[in-house]
Amino acid sequence: MTTTRYLVIGARGHAQEVAWSLDEQATRENRRCEFMFFDDGVPAGALPSGLGAVVGPLAALPEHVRHGDDRLVLGIGLPQIKAKVVTRLALLGVPWSTVIHPAASIGRNVSIGEGSYVGPGALLTVNVRVGRFTTINSHCQVAHDDVLGDFVTLHPDVHLSGNVSVGDGAELGAGSIVIPGVTVGAWAVLGAGTVAVRPVRAERTYVGVPARELILTEDDAR
Ligand SMILES: CC(C)(COP(=O)(O)OP(=O)(O)OC[C@H]1O[C@@H](n2cnc3c(N)ncnc32)[C@H](O)[C@@H]1OP(=O)(O)O)[C@@H](O)C(=O)NCCC(=O)NCCS
Repeated sequence: MTTTRYLVIGARGHAQEVAWSLDEQATRENRRCEFMFFDDGVPAGALPSGLGAVVGPLAALPEHVRHGDDRLVLGIGLPQIKAKVVTRLALLGVPWSTVIHPAASIGRNVSIGEGSYVGPGALLTVNVRVGRFTTINSHCQVAHDDVLGDFVTLHPDVHLSGNVSVGDGAELGAGSIVIPGVTVGAWAVLGAGTVAVRPVRAERTYVGVPARELILTEDDAR
């Protein structure tokens, strides 16, 4: 039996969920895998999930890469950090894994870009386009003809109706809902539980039902 070695970027809870998803996938396919975690903020040592150990910070990654059989795994949930890390690691030339938990449902004519993640219980129905390094957490619903850009993050239980478009780097909080045909602009943020019924402007934060823009005061920005 072959063993695939995954170099996981990030080691916090989300990273361990992504590794668990890969482990479930491998078990069903009768494959073995092992994980090495790299994180600038988590001390080296074994992780509580038992999935592997933190080897060191991202700077330690190059000395552990064995070209050919290694795969990078993005274990980070926040769009801006995902984008920075992917740019930083591009020179390594190691391919990124696309991770789909076996308990996710993927319908017909659905494309999912490199480095993206689909968690357990997520449902992507038909004619869906998902960009690169996009995160679709557990129990999200992505309906027909939705288009998600690169570096998007849907936190758990987000529901996108049909014909929704989500721009690059947008972050949709847990349990948020977007009604049919609405566009969410690039790098926008929807707070947890928000219901977007009108277009969401790029790089703005919205909360509430229906969604209203959160205006940050100068004090907030400091
Ligand atoms: C929207 C969000 C990004 C705002 O964060 P922030 O800029 O730190 O804002 P604050 O916490 O200072 O809150 C600012 C105001 O918005 C309100 N607010 C914050 N989040 C809200 C939400 N989800 N729904 C309704 N109101 C919200 C606060 O009550 C506060 O109101 P006030 O000024 O009247 O007291 C954040 O609260 C949020 O919901 N993030 C989603 C996180 C998530 O889903 N993570 C999933 C992890 S699995």
